[in-house]
Amino acid sequence: MAIFGASGDLTERKLVPALYYLARERLLPAGFSIIGCGRTPFTHEQFRAKMRRAVQKALKLPEGDDLLLGSFLEGVFYLTDDFGAPPAYGRLSALLDQLDRERGAGGNRLFYLSTPPSFFPVTVTHLGAAGLARSKAPGRNWTRIVIEKPFGRDLASARELNRAVTEVFNEEQVYRIDHYLGKETVQNLLVFRFANGVFEPLWNHRYINHIQITVAEDLGVENRGAYYEEAGLVRDMIQNHVLQLLSLVAMEPPVTFRATAVRDEKAKVLRSIRPIPVERVNDFALRGQYAEGFVKGQKVPAYRSEPKVAPNSETETYAAVKFYIDNWRWAGVPFYLRSGKRLPKRATEISIQFHRVPHLLFRDTPIEEIEPNLLGIQIQPNEGISLKFSAKLPGATMQIRPVMMDFRYGESFGVFPPTAYETLLLDCMLGDGTLFNREDAVELSWELVEPILTRWKEGGSTGLAFYEAGSWGPAEADAFIEADGQHWQRL
Ligand code: BG6
Repeated sequence: MAIFGASGDLTERKLVPALYYLARERLLPAGFSIIGCGRTPFTHEQFRAKMRRAVQKALKLPEGDDLLLGSFLEGVFYLTDDFGAPPAYGRLSALLDQLDRERGAGGNRLFYLSTPPSFFPVTVTHLGAAGLARSKAPGRNWTRIVIEKPFGRDLASARELNRAVTEVFNEEQVYRIDHYLGKETVQNLLVFRFANGVFEPLWNHRYINHIQITVAEDLGVENRGAYYEEAGLVRDMIQNHVLQLLSLVAMEPPVTFRATAVRDEKAKVLRSIRPIPVERVNDFALRGQYAEGFVKGQKVPAYRSEPKVAPNSETETYAAVKFYIDNWRWAGVPFYLRSGKRLPKRATEISIQFHRVPHLLFRDTPIEEIEPNLLGIQIQPNEGISLKFSAKLPGATMQIRPVMMDFRYGESFGVFPPTAYETLLLDCMLGDGTLFNREDAVELSWELVEPILTRWKEGGSTGLAFYEAGSWGPAEADAFIEADGQHWQRL
């Protein structure tokens, strides 16, 4: 496996710890080797030492628990080179062959693009020109490429990148990653919907009033100001992670849990989402940016004071969007999506609100209103599923209170799910693309957010609402959903 951009954050925080996890579970083949590729100079030894610290930190390994880690790190190498130019790829090819010979690596190749996105096209083109996109021994070996997000920065650039990639690789070789799809609870959504008989009959406009998808983070932009200034929340979260969650909640049952069937259904949902006309963006989307405030008792700076952020930045760090899916199942059901940085806590949740009961038969009692049933799917943290329903308060009078039925991963299975990268890396080595994005899904998602991006760019800072760090977003976001007679679920 060759990782481009290996000196970056992702390699040490996610990729190498995930690979070590797989090694420990004995899920990697003998001779499995990693080549970190980058311009930042490292010797093999220096890179190994850095990866050792990274794995120990990520997996919280006790000091001295090193035997397996030592042998894993023997398979880690680093190539310092200028990967913007062809000669580097000749040297990479030679090293790959050398590892096949010396470590019995076996000839399969997995390339992982984790560079800044502007390097994706050039890396792909050079891989192609160096003959590295083809299998070493067709029929016996495979060659695949994983492409990190962001996949393009708008529809045109995503199309251009798809074109550049598919000129060199076949679509079956290409794994466009969205790490949310590797999260255990996200996959459980499909099990919940399609391995249980009781929920699917209710999963439509007749029973469901509306759906909310929240991806809240308490973190700010950390050291990623330069990237974030170019991206903003809609590009960073809504175009990919949040729309992926939406497509899994809303899709029709696929015929099998195979890649093509699942991806076909996801693409169908995205295609059925009603496009938002540019001139009506303000009715369907809202943006905010965090001002200074307190998160978990700590004073934190405003977005505009973060490193590498312009003091008059108009970049959004919060967005709420309303979509409708124009198909038989979801006619008239609003999907409210919201995501933000520097909110009070980290919480990703899908809330499915059912219709109220049609008739209030307890009217001669003190009860004026009964809360509708609510199904909450907690993606992270505290992974689980809960159902809110009404129960009679014990006592001589008729009083009704909402109560919860709760399933927690940790309690039921005694383990906490691995992070997403283990699953996804293993899947692409096994050739299973179910949890990766196909060309059409990526482009369809860009099409959906493009009017929003266009309108906001045209509008400058008009309509950019500020919120205190540590709050649940701008006050305008409450008004946005209350205008429809709803309110954001408290998480
Ligand atoms: C990344 C975004 O894709 O997802 C980050 O670029 C964000 O800005 C992260 O923080 C959230 O991922 P997770 O797995 O922590 O929810």
